[in-house]
Amino acid sequence: TGHFTYDPGFTSTGSCESKITFIDGDKGVLLYRGYPIEQLAEKSDFMEVCYLLVYGELPDRGELDKFKYRITYHTMIHEQINYFFRGFRRDSHPMAIMCGVVGALSAFYHDSTDISDPVHRFVASTRLIAKMPTIAATAYRYSMGMPFAYPRNDLSFSENFLYMMFSNPCEEYVVNPVLARAMDRILILHADHEQNASTSTVRIAGSSGANPFACIAAGIASLWGPAHGGANEAVLSMLEHIGTKDHIPEYIARAKDKNDPFRLMGFGHRVYKNFDPRARVMRQAAHDVLDELGVRDDPLLDLAMELERIALEDDYFVSKKLYPNVDFYSGIIFKAMGIPTSMFTVLFAVARTVGWVAQWNEMIEDPMQKIGRPRQLFTGSGPRDYVDIAARG
Ligand code: CMC
Repeated sequence: TGHFTYDPGFTSTGSCESKITFIDGDKGVLLYRGYPIEQLAEKSDFMEVCYLLVYGELPDRGELDKFKYRITYHTMIHEQINYFFRGFRRDSHPMAIMCGVVGALSAFYHDSTDISDPVHRFVASTRLIAKMPTIAATAYRYSMGMPFAYPRNDLSFSENFLYMMFSNPCEEYVVNPVLARAMDRILILHADHEQNASTSTVRIAGSSGANPFACIAAGIASLWGPAHGGANEAVLSMLEHIGTKDHIPEYIARAKDKNDPFRLMGFGHRVYKNFDPRARVMRQAAHDVLDELGVRDDPLLDLAMELERIALEDDYFVSKKLYPNVDFYSGIIFKAMGIPTSMFTVLFAVARTVGWVAQWNEMIEDPMQKIGRPRQLFTGSGPRDYVDIAARG
């Protein structure tokens, strides 16, 4: 049956060559196309980072303007899609709506079936980056019973997203620049992370030549789980369950107990074994946002910081190299911004879409690319003869 390596969870399998994102898990380094995440989060903006991830270089002014024009050209969703939303129950989890609606886009853009054509791939990629905030905001508005909002192309990507989430037709909506900047930083931090579960899912789905909208829907499904993008929502639920600082030891004990499936959400990472550089930026951003909003002594932030302090001094977490990851602080910022918990992972998906499409394009262009097809160690029954149901005991 041929030779292969048994590698559950692909912990030691390199599945592709990539020029997009570099991670050094021991040193806590994360680079997009060579640029440190800290510098991008401080100095760049999300549109520029999208350009960088997709094209490989930072744009000049003209290139950036052209790219923004192309993205804004595609921000609206087909009116027919609005009927699709209305088929969901009002209380649907927005990630369920995202899986369905993004997958359904493949029924709208038939030109995207020709993925061998770079122009078609580019159009599909821009449509995805551009429409994700609109779809995300519409999922939220549907759950709230609010009228759907059309995108505003005079605003930046993050401003427009906040506008589509929170504006209401009865009054003028003024975007808070502090919140828009925080949103942009969060989007940058989540934009790509090399071959994580959802990106590998997108690559595997795409390796068969599937429609890009369907591939990104597959990525969204993978991101949803609490071990991956769903962790930001899980962190907040966990902090709310813990409630007060005096309950922290109880939860730390549960996380250490092998007979208890509970894990400290927002802690640990497959690759980062020293610290997650995104968590550092996110921690600072959480403080900045709460300061700017005039929230002093936010009990949730206090609780998170105390939990982090206790865990980082605990032998179990130290010996297993479990540090706070990007999701540990992001929920606190989202909550302060008024974003409901069920939308946290959706925001992650909005940000990660650019990484998914960049990785998908890189895969299609890779001459070494083959259909993703892992092998298995078969441990089931040997050959046996069929037994008629009447004769089974
Ligand atoms: N709390 C308690 N114990 C943990 C945790 C945790 N959060 N994470 C890992 N461990 C233990 C685990 O029980 C195992 O112990 P042992 O070796 O005794 O069996 C050891 O640490 C190694 O864990 P693993 O599950 O083999 O490691 P992994 O690389 O497969 O998993 C992870 C990485 C991120 C899935 C995991 O750390 C986890 O479940 N963390 C909580 C969920 C979370 O915060 N996810 C977000 C990840 S970052 C953003 C993203 O990817 O979306």
